[in-house]
Amino acid sequence: MKPSNRSERLPPYLFAELERKVREKRAAGVDVISLGIGDPDTPTPAPVVDALVAASADGGTHQYPSNRGRPELREAFARFYDRRFGVALDPESEIIPALGAKECVFNLNLAFLDAGDVALAADPGYPVYTGGPLLADAEPVLMPLVPELGFAPDLDAIAVEDAARARLLYLNYPNNPTGAVLPEGLFERVVEFAREHDVLVVHDASYTETTFDGYVAPSFLETAGAKEVGVEVFSLSKGWNMTGWRAAAIVGNADAVTAYWRLKTNIDSGMFEAVQLAAVAALEAGPPGEMKSIYARRRDLVCDALRAIGVNVTPPRGTIYIWAPVPDGHTSASYCELVLEESGVVLSPGGAYGPNGEGFFRISLTVPDERLSEAVERMRGSLGG
Ligand SMILES: Cc1ncc(COP(=O)(O)O)c(C=O)c1O
Repeated sequence: MKPSNRSERLPPYLFAELERKVREKRAAGVDVISLGIGDPDTPTPAPVVDALVAASADGGTHQYPSNRGRPELREAFARFYDRRFGVALDPESEIIPALGAKECVFNLNLAFLDAGDVALAADPGYPVYTGGPLLADAEPVLMPLVPELGFAPDLDAIAVEDAARARLLYLNYPNNPTGAVLPEGLFERVVEFAREHDVLVVHDASYTETTFDGYVAPSFLETAGAKEVGVEVFSLSKGWNMTGWRAAAIVGNADAVTAYWRLKTNIDSGMFEAVQLAAVAALEAGPPGEMKSIYARRRDLVCDALRAIGVNVTPPRGTIYIWAPVPDGHTSASYCELVLEESGVVLSPGGAYGPNGEGFFRISLTVPDERLSEAVERMRGSLGG
C-alpha cells in the first residue's frame, strides 16, 4: 500500500507527535503535565450544553444538515459580528458555518490553489497554513514575522515572483504561537497588497476573544476594503471552551464564501444541527468573561516563574500561549525533549511552527494553576536552575 506523493510531502503533524510522546510517557507511569496543545481545560458554558441537550432531543435536528447552515446560526454570527466588531454581514451570502477553523483553513487551500500557485504563510505560524497548500499540490511561501515590526510580516520583502503566483495570504492576530497582537497598520497594508496582487486574504480570528489587560482585538473585516479582498475564519473553540464541538464560520467576501461552500458540498455534510443551535446560544451569550481573567492570571504566574528561573519572556496580551526563548546551547527540539525526559512536562518546540520559531518554545495556559506552577518548578531542574 502506498500513500499518495502528496501526503508524503507533509511533515509529521506536530500535535499528533506530541500526543504519541505523552501516551508513551503515561504508559511508563510518568505524571506528565502537557503544556503542548492549546485545548481549554475549563468546561463549555452550561447554557451552551443545555441548548445542545434540548436541540438534540428534537428529532428535527437528526437528519443531514445543509452545508449552508441553519438560518438561525448564520443570523447569530451576523448579530455577533455587528455587536462585537461593528461589522455588517449578510447572513445569506457572507457567512457559512465551518467544522472548526482547521477544516475551514484547510479546505480554502483546495478551493483556491492549483499546482504552481503559492500561499503566503506566516512563519512561525499554525501548521495548517503550510500543510494545506502542500496537500493542494501548491507551494507555501513563508513570510517571516519580524519581532521588530511587532511580529508583522514584511510585505515588501516578499519576492516579486512569489507575489505574482500568490493566491492566498494567511494572517492570524492575536497570533499563535507568538502571542503578538495586531501590529498597527498591518491590516491596511495587507488590503493594499491583496488588491495589487489579486490575493485572497484569510484572517484566522481564532484568538480574538482571548485577550488581556483591556486589549480588544479587532476583526480584519473592520478594515476599509477588507471585504473586497478577504475572509475571516472565526472559531468558538478557544473563546468559548468548545474545541471538541467543531464550531466555526467563514465570513466576509461573498465570492470566496461561495467557493468554499461549493467545495464543501463535495467533502462533508455540514454541522450537526443540534451543535448549530448550541452555537447560536454561545454567540448570543458571548464568550464566558471569566476566561480572560483565568488566562491572565495563569500568564502572570508562568511569566513570573519563568523569569525567576532566568528565562526572558514577554507577557502576551492575547492568545492562550507563552512564547519563550530556549536556553543557550539548545535547539527548540532538543530543549523540549530534555524537559520531557527530565521533568515529564510537554512543551511545543518553536521550530515546529516554521524556521523562524527555532530557538523558542511555546507553553499553553490550558491547565489548572497548580499544575502550571508545578510544571515550571519541574522545568527549573532542566534549566539547571
Ligand atoms: C491559529 C489557529 N487556527 C486554528 C486553530 C484550530 O481551531 P479550531 O478548533 O476552530 O479548528 C488553532 C488551534 O490551535 C489555531 O491555533
